[in-house]
Amino acid sequence: MTILPKSLSPALARLAAYAKNPLTAVGFGLTTLSGIGLLVFLILEGLGLVENPYVGLLGLAFLPGGFVGGLLAMPVGIFLRRRKLRKRGVLATDVPLWPRLDFNDGHIRRAFLIVLGLTVVNAILLATSSAVAVEFMDSPKFCGTICHKVMQPEYTAYQNSPHSRVKCVQCHIGPGASFMVRSKFDGLRQVWKVMLGTYARPIASPVHTLRPARDTCEGCHWPAKHYGDKLHLIGRFADDEKNTPSFTALLLKTGGGARAAGQQHGGIHWWHIYADNRIRYLATDKRRQEMAWVELTTADGKQTEFLREGAKPPASAAIAAEARLMDCIDCHNRPTHLFESPARETDAVLQRQAELRALPFYKREVVKAAQASYATHEQGVAGVREAIRGFYQKSYPDLAAGQAVLVARGAEEAARVYDRTVFPQMNTNSKTHPTNIGHDESPGCFRCHDGNMKNAKTGETIPNDCETCHGILVDGATAEPDLTKLAIPQPVAEAKTDHTGATEAKP
Ligand code: HEC
Ligand code: HEC
Ligand code: HEC
Ligand code: HEC
Ligand code: HEC
Repeated sequence: MTILPKSLSPALARLAAYAKNPLTAVGFGLTTLSGIGLLVFLILEGLGLVENPYVGLLGLAFLPGGFVGGLLAMPVGIFLRRRKLRKRGVLATDVPLWPRLDFNDGHIRRAFLIVLGLTVVNAILLATSSAVAVEFMDSPKFCGTICHKVMQPEYTAYQNSPHSRVKCVQCHIGPGASFMVRSKFDGLRQVWKVMLGTYARPIASPVHTLRPARDTCEGCHWPAKHYGDKLHLIGRFADDEKNTPSFTALLLKTGGGARAAGQQHGGIHWWHIYADNRIRYLATDKRRQEMAWVELTTADGKQTEFLREGAKPPASAAIAAEARLMDCIDCHNRPTHLFESPARETDAVLQRQAELRALPFYKREVVKAAQASYATHEQGVAGVREAIRGFYQKSYPDLAAGQAVLVARGAEEAARVYDRTVFPQMNTNSKTHPTNIGHDESPGCFRCHDGNMKNAKTGETIPNDCETCHGILVDGATAEPDLTKLAIPQPVAEAKTDHTGATEAKP
């Protein structure tokens, strides 16, 4: 207490005497040390030198904790000391339980101002560090790597996705405080599970507590906007020596628009989301893959129910309790964590890198190597690379010697196929986390559009005509089509009946 003048007023001298206790001393030390640590940490963080998420967690959780703990310990120590002295009778018994602060005493006034000044400094330091902490914990790097093994599948897929610059929290938490608070509590529970090793493998999907897409996706993908039709060229490759290709060009009737804005463009988005249609469904499984009952409510309030053939009509209590209102996630359930099967991922590689099609049996061998069982993800990546290299060395030694660079690239790409698709430690792959877009390896759209969802009264089914969702411009061509020469039909008719029977005016 050397900063205080020699001749203290009696009140301040008493305070200084009470401050001489172990708790206050420890508090003082703790606050000073963590304060200095926090300053240094914030400067390093500001310079971008804190890379490791664990160091970040340490810096941003423990240092402010120590700082605040110390600050609290100091007055508590003083208070306890004073109470003890009072009880022991060292202080006059008429000393009240709480001290009187007399601001007419110049010393008290100055001491108070010093404390006030320091409090402002402390508040700034704490506010800065909590802002940095929130920013840090919201970073994909933190979310994706803090419990590395657990998040490895989602983080890997994320890094390879169109959303790799969108933060995890923008989809998982979204704006506003309520979901943030909820997610932090959820986070605590998850950290506990990771520490005990009791988390589920794979992490279950769908995420039943996910925030409705309205509050997340729609912040960036403006609902009323018309996406137009989307041309999609899909290359598939056979298991034969030549990796024989088969190309399909689809014109997806994506569509969109908003009734309120007087725009209605028809198409997929229009029908399920924007036409003021509401589609609700009941699934018989937790993963929402088997649909039993679907209900369409049109803008005029008319309701049409569809029931899976052979299924019993659900009780109205079950509908009230469990029916889910369809939103973006019911189709785009893998917008950023897409786990393709090794076969589909190899197709994508061969479609993008035509040179690799010259490697005999490439498709067959990569799929075979990726489907073998490996103890860990890392062993799998190395194992697939070795298997492909070994295959060409053994079965095509001339090629392996003459085209060493191509073979090496093939082996590397094969390793990446595995890296993106199979996660043995978390038991995560295209089967555990199927995509709901399409109807190729998982039921997807055909969960409802398979022709077996019938309206009991009219006998109408949810449409499954092949041209309902996409035009098929090229159907299984062996030569890569020139997309600039395709005859593209006119976009989906803009004036369409909307199940009210009426045909609306064109915008
Ligand atoms: C573009 C939006 C988006 C971004 C960005 C995003 N996610 Fe997701 N994530 C989703 C959706 C949607 C689901 C739910 C899928 C479902 O319910 O079927 C999901 C599910 C998950 C799951 C549950 C398991 C699974 O695969 O379904 C985990 C774990 C996860 N995300 C982690 C992350 C992490 C870590 C990041 C950042 C590195 C991240 N997510 C970024 C949209 C996103
Ligand atoms: C923070 C903004 C943001 C959020 C939130 C967001 N997206 Fe996106 N999304 C983008 C951007 C930007 C692209 C375009 C990326 C590109 O073209 O490279 C995109 C692309 C897409 C695509 C096209 C992907 C492709 O293969 O071409 C789909 C589908 C999509 N988002 C769905 C979703 C869904 C579903 C959600 C909610 C779970 C979501 N997005 C949340 C910004 C966002
Ligand atoms: C009934 C299923 C379904 C629903 C519901 C749905 N989408 Fe789509 N969406 C598709 C299909 C199919 C495509 C085209 C294939 C693709 O891009 O993967 C698509 C394409 C997209 C694209 C890419 C457009 C382009 O031209 O590149 C974006 C972005 C997108 N959807 C966002 C959303 C958002 C946001 C929602 C929720 C408001 C939503 N979708 C709801 C099925 C759906
Ligand atoms: C939960 C059930 C469900 C799923 C899943 C679903 N749909 Fe639908 N879809 C419906 C219902 C119900 C209708 C309205 C049926 C009618 O026309 O009577 C509809 C209508 C449509 C229409 C308009 C048909 C018309 O009459 O012109 C298109 C296009 C469409 N869906 C595409 C898709 C695509 C693409 C997917 C997958 C990405 C998909 N749907 C997934 C329930 C579903
Ligand atoms: C309810 C909507 C819907 C109906 C009905 C539908 N499809 Fe599709 N189909 C899709 C969507 C969505 C995709 C995925 C396109 C993508 O990957 O972007 C797709 C993908 C495909 C593909 C590419 C598969 C691949 O290799 O990835 C083919 C081929 C195809 N459809 C053919 C058909 C045929 C034939 C029919 C009639 C039996 C049909 N579709 C009916 C929505 C539909």
